[in-house]
Amino acid sequence: MAATLSSCKQAAAAAGMAAMHSSVSATSSSAALVSMGVSRRYASNSAMLLRSAFIPGTVSLRSRAVVSNNRSDAGKRSGHAVASSSNGTGGSSGLSIDLRGKRAFIAGVADDQGFGWAIAKALAAAGAEILLGTWVPALNIFETSLRKGKFDESRLLPNGSLFEIAKVYPLDAVYDTPDDVPDDVKSNKRYAVATGWTVKEVAESVKNDYGSIDILVHSLANGPEVTKPLLDTSRKGYLAAISASSYSYVSLLKYFSPFMNPGGSSISLTYLASEKTIPGYGGGMSSAKAALESDTRVLAFEVGRKYKIRVNTISAGPLRSRAAKAIGFIDDMINYSTANAPLQKELDSDEVGYSAAFLASPLASAITGTVLYVDNGLHTMGVAVDSPAISKAAASTPAKVNVAA
Ligand SMILES: NC(=O)c1ccc[n+]([C@@H]2O[C@H](COP(=O)([O-])OP(=O)(O)OC[C@H]3O[C@@H](n4cnc5c(N)ncnc54)[C@H](O)[C@@H]3O)[C@@H](O)[C@H]2O)c1
Repeated sequence: MAATLSSCKQAAAAAGMAAMHSSVSATSSSAALVSMGVSRRYASNSAMLLRSAFIPGTVSLRSRAVVSNNRSDAGKRSGHAVASSSNGTGGSSGLSIDLRGKRAFIAGVADDQGFGWAIAKALAAAGAEILLGTWVPALNIFETSLRKGKFDESRLLPNGSLFEIAKVYPLDAVYDTPDDVPDDVKSNKRYAVATGWTVKEVAESVKNDYGSIDILVHSLANGPEVTKPLLDTSRKGYLAAISASSYSYVSLLKYFSPFMNPGGSSISLTYLASEKTIPGYGGGMSSAKAALESDTRVLAFEVGRKYKIRVNTISAGPLRSRAAKAIGFIDDMINYSTANAPLQKELDSDEVGYSAAFLASPLASAITGTVLYVDNGLHTMGVAVDSPAISKAAASTPAKVNVAA
């Protein structure tokens, strides 16, 4: 497909989507890459790449390609993923996020508001085939909404097509095998809508249907006592949070990685409350995110050695998703971030989607075991600059510089 970036933008504008995409700045993606230790020049180029990742094989970075095109054949032969030229003619056309021929399973999508959806859409825009895992109690409403076209506006890709979902699998990531499902769940009518939804069964179904996958995304969490302070959290509530939000990832990797292609990539979603105290994010959810981040490092080692698969987690800034709204203070967290983060803008879920597409791509082939912050830089702040208690420090924020002068 030979569409240019400007034609992508025109298509998006024609579809009334330009405003949405223009909110994704190259600067923010660049900052995320710089925070990973990528040089500023490369990060700035890569940010342009992410910004333009809508259609595979079309992005042209005028500067010299970081990965030489003539290494691509050798790289493919040796089993290493290497970025290829966008037009196959050699060096000057730049790098692209091209996931054509790759297949992704994204666990934790039940509407078009959350990170899982945005990641699925970005991966689809880069050419990947998309399989979803949807929580059983939410399955009916999700499939009905999909069928009735309720999500069609947010399925729209900048080239004008709607992103396709090859198959939706019912999933409850709290249960590994049918033997683990208690009787009250077995007899619950919300679970009677489907069969074969434990992690092991879903993995077997995906393997039977498609043979292999390349990308595994864990975008799910659940903490029944999330609104309670940790001190008031019951043992049951705490363990439920860990089971749904952390062990579920171990389980997914356990059952999916044996049929993931070498060079594959796995990504989960975490939150700053794992490492800094965020009052209100209770019920053991902060503990669950700390476990998820620690597990990311250990699993990166284990599945890296065993299956040549990379494991990373994205620490995302606040987003008004269904799950976040249930916690009850998401608007405050968004306002806080806008007031205090280095980049004063609301996080767009697409920014997380593009970062995931980068992590899933051959461009990130040496990145594993990391926490990638996609949060407008909020994690770097040690103080809240909007606090009246530190008005002098806040006043020392540099004024805008007129570079054109
Ligand atoms: N929204 C935020 O501000 C924010 C910030 C940082 C990280 N995150 C993380 O992003 C991830 C996605 O959350 P989101 O905010 O996009 O909300 P979301 O509501 O879109 O996603 C959560 C999903 O988890 C699913 N789910 C819950 N229990 C499940 C189970 N047992 N089995 C299978 N699926 C189950 C829900 O059906 C839902 O689809 C979560 O890990 C969340 O902690 C969210």
